[in-house]
Parts: sequence; structure tokens; C-alpha cells
Amino acid sequence: MLWYRRLESFVREQIPLAPLTNYRVGGPAEFFAEPPGEEALRMVLRQAAEEEIPVRVLGRGTNLLVSDAGVRGLVVRLPAGEFSGLERYGTRLRAGAGHSLPALVKWSVAQGLGGLECLAGVPGTVGAALRMNAGGKYGEIRSRVRSVSGFTRAGAPFRFEPHACGFVYRGSALKDCIVTRCELELEEGSSALGSERVRGILDEKRATQPLAGRSAGCVFKNSRLPGVPPAGRIIDELGFKGQRVGGARVSSLHANFLVCDGNAHAADVLELIRRIRERAAHERGVELELELEAWGVRDEELRPRAVPQVA
Ligand code: EPU
Repeated sequence: MLWYRRLESFVREQIPLAPLTNYRVGGPAEFFAEPPGEEALRMVLRQAAEEEIPVRVLGRGTNLLVSDAGVRGLVVRLPAGEFSGLERYGTRLRAGAGHSLPALVKWSVAQGLGGLECLAGVPGTVGAALRMNAGGKYGEIRSRVRSVSGFTRAGAPFRFEPHACGFVYRGSALKDCIVTRCELELEEGSSALGSERVRGILDEKRATQPLAGRSAGCVFKNSRLPGVPPAGRIIDELGFKGQRVGGARVSSLHANFLVCDGNAHAADVLELIRRIRERAAHERGVELELELEAWGVRDEELRPRAVPQVA
């Protein structure tokens, strides 16, 4: 029997994901749901859990690579409206997870609220920013979070204080949850100074990152180990800039960005990732860890091939 029989108004099958991601490559989602509200979200999560159907959450697809074969299971996307509200109480904001992060940064600066300028140029939704603990060298979202609410994959509601969110560099304990909203604490500031700060960060990024291309931002995390250079520098020093596999290439502006052209496939991006990891491991002794999320991809597709042992 159809597992989503009672939820047919917002669950569909075989929905192409490529147009919903920045790379614009990859196959379809087996099931795709856009629940119109919290109750619908809870119902679809419960139903999927009962049927043991894996669940993934899609934001704006800005940090995501979907395999050419697509993904098994259910992909949930929170539609605008119910999940993208924004309320201000003094210096406190209540924001829906589906709200655009760049729009939130712009809005808070215009309101004369300081604290989110460091996120200028980070794409995606507020929900994704929380799950990834989005940020850059000027700060991360975690320093502003007062609470995060949502549902577990099994459909149980939660509200976490910051310490329960498990924020780390480009990650959190929210990765296994569906975030629906959060509370952020900002500070009274100056709109003019905030705009200037945002402009400065955006100018810096435009000069060093291919912001307009079909990319997913930095592909690899920077190592936290002392003495290991940033991933972009390692890949650059290995001579990868401009190298291409099919329709995917390493950006000439920033080596930690892979950019897709017209006829790119996910397999092209995956092969570039594999080659970069292989040489970083063999020639620099560094294991590059993925920063982007890869869906429907087997581990072997990303791992360097073993070096043949000489007897
Ligand atoms: N570098 C090179 N060649 C390159 C790229 C970088 O030599 O092709 C060198 C730079 O010259 C610099 C160092 O590597 O000395 C670090 O580069 P950069 O300042 O560009 O910062 P990053 O560590 O590569 C991090 C975040 C970015 C964020 C920027 C700015 C990671 C993996 N990356 O980049 O985040 O935008 O700082 O705050 O943490 C992302 O998360 O998707 C992302 C792009």
C-alpha cells in the first residue's frame, strides 16, 4: 500500500533534484515532500519512520552534491510561508528555518541590529546555516543562537538550548534533525557601520571566490590540526586550479571551489573530488574531509584509490 496515502497532497515521486541545487547536477528523489505546515511535517516524518524510509532535508541546495542516480527515500523541503517567518523582539529574532540567510543578514543590518554581518556572502537557508554552523573567518552563526526548534527524524518535537546543539566547525548535532525555527540574540548597532562591514566582506569574497558560478562553496573542510594549511592552499599548491573532468573544473579563483559547466554530471564532480583527495593524501599526507553534503554517493566513489604496494 502507498505509504503516503493520506499525505498525497504534498508528497510526490521521482522529483528531479538537479534544478534545486547550485551544482545543478544529479538525479531525482524517490519521494519528495513539501509539507505545508508543522503538523504536516510531523505526519510525514512519523509515517516515513514507521516505514523505515530514510529522510533528508533540502534547503536551497547550496552545499549539496546529488549523485546521478539520485537518492532513495524521502527528501523534505520546507516551503516558504509557514517556515520562513521573521519576528523581532528588541534585539531578539525569531526566524523560520526556510528563511533565506542572505535576506536575514541584509534585514538585520537594515534594522540596525549587529551580529550577523560575519555571515555575509554565505548562501542558503537559516535552517542549513544552523545545521552546518555556517560561518567564515569573521565568525559563525553559533555565537548568536539562543534556541533551535524542530523535529527529530522520527517526528518528535524538540527545542534545544545552544549547548544541546553541539556546534562545531561546520557541523552540529542538528544534522540528524529537521530544524523549523530558531531564536537569535543580536545587539543594537549602526545600520551604516553594519552595511560597510557587509560590503567589505562581500568585496573580499568576490575577489577570491567564484560566487556567480555553479558551485557549492568550499568542497573540503580546513583541517583543525596545527600546521596543516587550509584546503584551498593545498589544492592550489598541487596544481589543480583550472583542471577539469567532463563538465566540472577546479576554480581558478579559489582551489577549494569546484564549478560546473553546461553538461556536467555528478560523476565529474565526484571524480575531481577523488583525484584531489588522492593526491593530497599521497603527496601531502593530508586527509581532506568533505565540507559539502553528498547524497546517494557510495564512500568508495570519494575515497582515494589504494596505492599499489611494491613487494
Ligand atoms: N589559498 C590559496 N589558494 C587558493 C585558495 C586559498 O593559496 O586557491 C590560501 C589563501 O591565500 C589563504 C588561505 O589559503 O592564505 C585561506 O584562504 P581563504 O582566506 O580564501 O579562506 P579559506 O580558509 O579557504 C574559509 C572558509 C570559507 C569562507 C572563507 C572566508 C572553509 C573550508 N572555508 O575559506 O567558507 O568563505 O574562509 O571567511 O572553512 C564555505 O564554507 O563553503 C566557504 C567557502
